[in-house]
Amino acid sequence: MQLEIIILAAGRGVRMQSDLPKVLHPLAGKPLIWHVLKTAAALNPFKLHVVVGHSAEKVKTACADFSVNWVFQKEQLGTGHAVLQALSEVSPESRVLVLYGDVPLISVGTLRQLIHETGAGSAVLTADLDDPSGYGRVLRDSAGRFERIVEDKDATPSELEIREINTGVLIVSAAQLNAYLPTVTSDNGQGEYYLPDILSRLVEDNEQILTINALSDEVLGINDRFQLARAEAANRVNRARALMDQGVTLIDPTRVEIRGEVECGSDVVIDINVILSGKVVLENQVNVGANSCISNSTIGAGTVIHPMSIVDGATIESSCSIGPFARIRAGTRLSSEAKIGNFVETKNTTLGEASKASHLAYLGDAKIGSSSNIGAGTITCNYDGVEKHTTEIGDNAFVGSNSTLVAPVNISAEAFVSAGSTITKDVASKELAVGRSPQRNVTGWKRPQAKK
Ligand code: UD1
Ligand code: CA
Repeated sequence: MQLEIIILAAGRGVRMQSDLPKVLHPLAGKPLIWHVLKTAAALNPFKLHVVVGHSAEKVKTACADFSVNWVFQKEQLGTGHAVLQALSEVSPESRVLVLYGDVPLISVGTLRQLIHETGAGSAVLTADLDDPSGYGRVLRDSAGRFERIVEDKDATPSELEIREINTGVLIVSAAQLNAYLPTVTSDNGQGEYYLPDILSRLVEDNEQILTINALSDEVLGINDRFQLARAEAANRVNRARALMDQGVTLIDPTRVEIRGEVECGSDVVIDINVILSGKVVLENQVNVGANSCISNSTIGAGTVIHPMSIVDGATIESSCSIGPFARIRAGTRLSSEAKIGNFVETKNTTLGEASKASHLAYLGDAKIGSSSNIGAGTITCNYDGVEKHTTEIGDNAFVGSNSTLVAPVNISAEAFVSAGSTITKDVASKELAVGRSPQRNVTGWKRPQAKK
């Protein structure tokens, strides 16, 4: 049977106390709904519907990466009402999986289990929680068969003791939704149309509801900022665990943030408070120092990133040394054994093999050959106020400290720029350029004296 997925994301999320709709609050750097969409897309549904209402346009914009059929729920009258809004666009032969936009950590594996281990039957995903408060509870008959869900707000004290909860995720046929959803009423404590009520209707008509039990970390529903922080922590540890399983050493798995897709070789070591975002590749034996942020970059084997460094949009080859306190910006390419030291900023710059800029420099729009030395305080003046220009530096060149290289300018291989120079003209190979005023020493000079 073909699968369609409906994601519910119309609520405002009052308990977040926020102007931002709840499903746009970030988890691991991406909106909650983004995680649900990514998981849903991995199941290759025939159609993916998302029910939006509160701040619908903002939600749509944030989900532009996905191909979605948007359904508008004008008033948020409950999860049952939300699904009803999408129903006319669901093919009557489909099986329908319902996901909640505020339950972001459910894994593809768990959903596959729910889809495949239940045949074509109706099923709900449940979990056993130590603290089930706030969730709907699963009621079973004396034989242990699923009977119905009771919402936290409607439950009796003894029902509140039940630790098996409704995750919100369920799978039923479109035919069943068509038949039962219109019969659900809002006759309950919250005056809402509850989606889980269709399950008890099915049971009343002698349909069996299967249950699949999920891991507690996966099913966290996010209704307030405390639950969001808990989900963030659970996700952090899961992602850390996955990296460690690939052979990465994390000095403290609770203090590494993975906000994207990370691929690691063997024996990579990551120190505390490191943030990895976007697509990051760390090859074998890369070492990332404390408090560093790496995004959308590839770091070659054996490279060491010393503490407090920022690397964004760069390709770093093997055995390089970066930082501490380096800022490597987009378009930087370092060939192997290159060194970028403290307080050096690079942007759209290539540094050839074994070249060095060890301290205090700005290298923007520069092409630097191999084995060259860029002295402390060197600035490539790449911007004339209107346009950007390139500085070229050949192999084995030496740029003395505190030099200002006014681009466009070309310093050829083996050229030597004396310290403190302002270079506005090209320097040919093996030439020495002195771009500073000659020193004048005044003999017999007297210090100014304070007046008596
Ligand atoms: C819901 C379930 C509860 C379950 C819990 C799991 C119901 C009635 N209750 O409770 O059994 O344990 O999730 O996390 O289903 N939404 C809409 N339109 C609406 C109402 C809600 O799109 O009219 C969306 C919300 O944006 C949210 C999701 O549905 O993404 C769940 O709604 P929420 O109000 O958070 O339900 P819970 O009280 O958490
Ligand atoms: Ca919720």
